[in-house]
Amino acid sequence: MSSPKIWTHKGTFLLAAVGSAVGLGNLWRFPYLTGENGGGAFILIYALTIAVVGIPILIAESLLGRASRKSPIMGMKYLTKSHGTSSNWQIIGWMGAAAAFIILSFYSVIAGWAIHYTGLMFSGSLSGASSETIGAAFGDLLASPGLLLLYHTLFILASGAIVGMGIHKGIESGLRFMMPALFFILLIVLAYGIIAGDAVAAMKFLFTFNLSDLSLEGWLQAMGQSFFTLSLGMGAIMAYGAYMSSEASLTRTAISIAVVDTVIALLAGIAIFALVFGSGMEAGQGPGLMFVTLPIAFADLPGGILLGGIFFILVIGAALTSAISLVEPVAAFLVEKYGLSRPTAVGIMIAGCWLLGLVTVFSFNIWSEGTITHTLFNRSPFDVLEFVTNILMPLGGLLIALFAGWALSRDEVIREMATNDQWFKVWQFLVRFIAPTAVAFVFLRTIPQVEGYLIPAVGSVLIIGAFTAGRTFMVNNKAN
Ligand code: PFF
Repeated sequence: MSSPKIWTHKGTFLLAAVGSAVGLGNLWRFPYLTGENGGGAFILIYALTIAVVGIPILIAESLLGRASRKSPIMGMKYLTKSHGTSSNWQIIGWMGAAAAFIILSFYSVIAGWAIHYTGLMFSGSLSGASSETIGAAFGDLLASPGLLLLYHTLFILASGAIVGMGIHKGIESGLRFMMPALFFILLIVLAYGIIAGDAVAAMKFLFTFNLSDLSLEGWLQAMGQSFFTLSLGMGAIMAYGAYMSSEASLTRTAISIAVVDTVIALLAGIAIFALVFGSGMEAGQGPGLMFVTLPIAFADLPGGILLGGIFFILVIGAALTSAISLVEPVAAFLVEKYGLSRPTAVGIMIAGCWLLGLVTVFSFNIWSEGTITHTLFNRSPFDVLEFVTNILMPLGGLLIALFAGWALSRDEVIREMATNDQWFKVWQFLVRFIAPTAVAFVFLRTIPQVEGYLIPAVGSVLIIGAFTAGRTFMVNNKAN
């Protein structure tokens, strides 16, 4: 039997997981959600969820990867067999792969927008432009299926090329070069934001905690965002965890990933809001914050066009290091299960995602509001895809927490975590009770968005079923 594939260095898993975690979620989604939800209070809930739900599930997901040393689908098959548990738990692997596939299809389209903006900035076509012109530029981009398709194709090809070269020559080498470069660019943008913008207003906005600013919806969004930003529930962390050195500490690594990811989101938030406030604009601009408001600020500030271009390179790079972690789980499965070569497996994965990406591309133009496709679902097809992943992500996290918390034996977890009994108990309490409850809360939030009672009923049955399954393990598993 060949020895398992492992990252070259003990610390590579940390690098890869941070690469996966830091992406559009930090630079695009986190700032606009914070802007829409009143600032500091949102961040407080976000940080709290990361600590009590995100980190324990991060430990659980990397543990499942390392304990199986296989791709998520095959890994779950192995773990359910070796632990004599119901084969239904294998759904964790399949759901993760499905979610990774769908997310990559639209993540690539949105990352493509950053390619367009890098060009717009460096070509100088936005320099001195009015806010109306810059706002219209975003509308023009979305209205052009050809352009969106071009960028989507470029981005997905780049992700595929890296993963296709293998975990050492492709992913590891790519990350070792890209991660420090991205951090360096972030510091440049931050320094520029502080010098040219209004950093004091940005800090006040981000760190003034007024819980009454936060609606229930905002509270739930903060929890959902903490999942997305840590790449949880989609098999990405499990796939990378499969290559993790046995010597690396799961707990310390998970805490480091969460801390670095949060610090980067905050630094990006400070830079972006300093520029936005410095140009006299408002925080609550929604998804257009990065593609309309920020370019207006860049166009308005001295040297802003150059810095704007550099900023969008950061966005592309961060998205790329996340996208490769979405390709890996499915590609690794195709290699393991069907004996395909890695480039073929990656080719199949990205060809599929590229095709599905057309749905997102067309959602902004030929299938936009008023067209039959939109009327059929009462929302754009892109919204439908996002909605599906909003369900798969927390559900995957919930099942991972329950499986790791109830099904794995105490001895195995303690051995993998290399921790003492006390810390084990804290972790176990969090994954058994706190994380599932919090996730169920986030999960149920997405349900009322669909009319009728069918989905709430199915959702509740699923959650109750999961809890019951968990209890069965407690009874059956004497080691617990
Ligand atoms: N964590 C990434 C971000 O914040 O942009 C997004 C992501 C990557 C989610 C990989 C899930 C995943 F598996």
